[in-house]
Amino acid sequence: MFEHLLSPGRIGPVALRNRIVMSAMGTNLAEEDGCAGERIQRYYEERARGGVGLVIVGVAAVAHPAGTCIPRQIGISDERFVPGLAALASRVHAHGAKAAIQLQHAGKVATQDIASGRPLWVPSIAPGKLGDLMNDLAPEEAAAITAPFSRPGAKVAFHEMTFEDVATLADWFAAAADRARRARFDAIEIHGAHGYLLSSFLSPASNTRSDAYGGGHEGRSRALCEVIRAVKARVGGDLAVWVRLDAKEFRVENGITPEDAQRTAELAEAAGADAIHVTAYADPTSGVAFTDAPLVDRPCGYVALAAGIKRRVRIPVIVVGRIEPAEADSLVAEGRADFVAMARPLLADPALASKLAAGRPESVRPCIYCYRCVGQIFLNESVVCAVNPATGREAESELTPAAHPRHVLVVGGGPAGMEAARIAALRGHRVTLCERHDRLGGTLLFSELVYPPNGRLVRHLAGQVRDAGVDVRVRTRVTLALAREIAPDVIVVATGARRETPEIPGAVRRNVLSGDDLRALLTGSDAQAASEKLSFAQRAVLGAGRLVGATGDMTLARELTRRWMPLGRRVAIVGGGLVGVELAEFLAERGRGVVVLEEGPTLAPEMALPRRWRALFEARERGVQFVTRARVTRIDEDGIVYDDASGASQRIRVDQVILATGTRGDASVADELRGLGAEIHRIGDCERVGYVEGALRSAARVASSL
Ligand SMILES: Cc1cc2nc3c(=O)[nH]c(=O)nc-3n(C[C@H](O)[C@H](O)[C@H](O)COP(=O)(O)O)c2cc1C
Repeated sequence: MFEHLLSPGRIGPVALRNRIVMSAMGTNLAEEDGCAGERIQRYYEERARGGVGLVIVGVAAVAHPAGTCIPRQIGISDERFVPGLAALASRVHAHGAKAAIQLQHAGKVATQDIASGRPLWVPSIAPGKLGDLMNDLAPEEAAAITAPFSRPGAKVAFHEMTFEDVATLADWFAAAADRARRARFDAIEIHGAHGYLLSSFLSPASNTRSDAYGGGHEGRSRALCEVIRAVKARVGGDLAVWVRLDAKEFRVENGITPEDAQRTAELAEAAGADAIHVTAYADPTSGVAFTDAPLVDRPCGYVALAAGIKRRVRIPVIVVGRIEPAEADSLVAEGRADFVAMARPLLADPALASKLAAGRPESVRPCIYCYRCVGQIFLNESVVCAVNPATGREAESELTPAAHPRHVLVVGGGPAGMEAARIAALRGHRVTLCERHDRLGGTLLFSELVYPPNGRLVRHLAGQVRDAGVDVRVRTRVTLALAREIAPDVIVVATGARRETPEIPGAVRRNVLSGDDLRALLTGSDAQAASEKLSFAQRAVLGAGRLVGATGDMTLARELTRRWMPLGRRVAIVGGGLVGVELAEFLAERGRGVVVLEEGPTLAPEMALPRRWRALFEARERGVQFVTRARVTRIDEDGIVYDDASGASQRIRVDQVILATGTRGDASVADELRGLGAEIHRIGDCERVGYVEGALRSAARVASSL
């Protein structure tokens, strides 16, 4: 199992215990002055403890604070940074991992330079363009993103670099590498990707110079090669030195092509690089482009690009980009890459590598690729993870044994209930978990239908609950009488949200389905009420849905719904939140004409930014029409009537209306159980609708305090 991924490897002078690399991430976890303090040290230590072979510390600024792109970026441009970095490296080493540091100057994307009125360093001044990046933002998000540019003295100005500047840049990188050596790092990653300064030299789109640092490919690679040589001259032999390169620029006219990147990799090797770390970049002014690169949405999105580079060099190649352990193992086995870097999966579970080594891959908490982590960075906040509340606050999140073990009854087996049960049991409590349906998962189980990555999380959580020794009782509705019988010391209520039918005339007509009705129809669960709204012929076909509901196989349900769904051709969805948008995408993919009517100004504000850009893009590509500031006034047999932003009444003809609004917290079960007199807590959506992240966060908060 994972023998190739877990086999030792070597990059230049550095021997690594396995092929799993923690990819560089800017986290906004450094101290305000750019030093590596306790919080960021602990964050990296946790990933080293979790068994990766190599930790790459993300974006250390070689000219700090100049050339930085996030407010709390780590610096390496001065001696004052060395002690914190040395402490960080030593904590990584203490767990048997090797430590690399990524050296960076952000160049044209150095937002902190704009904020402080410093000119942006660029190879050449290219005309700016405004893409769709600011579309689909909530007003608070737009304010958070633009906050640095509204500071007094902020300005956008460019400095076209001279030959002396390039020499200075090489000196900065070399001096930074020397500090890293003195801080006992094992390796240097030169950031030659993601639109930062060195990659803007490499890209024909941003480098239009005709002198020695521009022109053809060789000229555009010169700055990078000089930096490699300068760093090698200073620390080579002791430390491994490699570059991170864009194998392609997506959606960029005249951008880097795979052939360019292969040639650059050859030149980097000739300049002394000990490895190539293959990533990609995309138009930075486009929201959806960000999910092409660098945070790829497509599984194994850069594998072919990395393999193309690997064919051209003799040094090791590190590949990255939504790679799961099974694929990672095959890539190494087949020689398509030498090392596999992971970023988001290690935010979700720092112990991924050690769990693989222990033969427990199912115990790895899966990333659901919701983009919450990097969404925070867009908003100038520190990194978080929707499925791992401990990320970024490792010290505060350590589980401690319960001082007084008690009997905890958890009511409801959705994500909040499962997580609370798991944590309480691990802390030494005796835990009983009751779920009224025949299997664990709650709403998350069904959300796999429209967003498949959620399914892995459900299965993982259910497995964890079993492994923790929780007494799980399905098909068990907790009444006051049952609770009395169980006689717990503590009750944790996690029964999920309630959905209210909106007060729209016609909202209970036969052509209107609530979100619950639809889920019931597509999966066959609780289908009674919903199926009353169907014709006899439609009901006959429901058998397939019931079968799927009985087996819980949502992959099958996704397939079957491609062939048949009890829905007309034209559908209006009332409510453009996360649920409405995911549903719109799902229905449009199945050939339905979909209109989404949202009363507020923003679509799916609960979705983290890059994922929202992607979901809205995909839906629009499939013809979904989104209308914001639309107040529905009536539903009748022909369709739906609403007031648009100007107050004018509009009518849309549709066959079916789906209500995706009105989800609220629900105190009813907790109120009923209060009669027992036990300590009682509410978590997850029944306390406050917060989806997966809110569920897991509130579960962790409550269960670690019991
Ligand atoms: C929160 C976050 C911050 C990131 N910051 C950086 C960075 O500072 N430097 C960098 O080279 N890549 C950065 N990346 C990109 C990752 O290194 C990685 O290439 C990308 O996430 C794809 O890998 P994954 O699918 O395993 O997440 C960041 C990714 C995330 C999720």
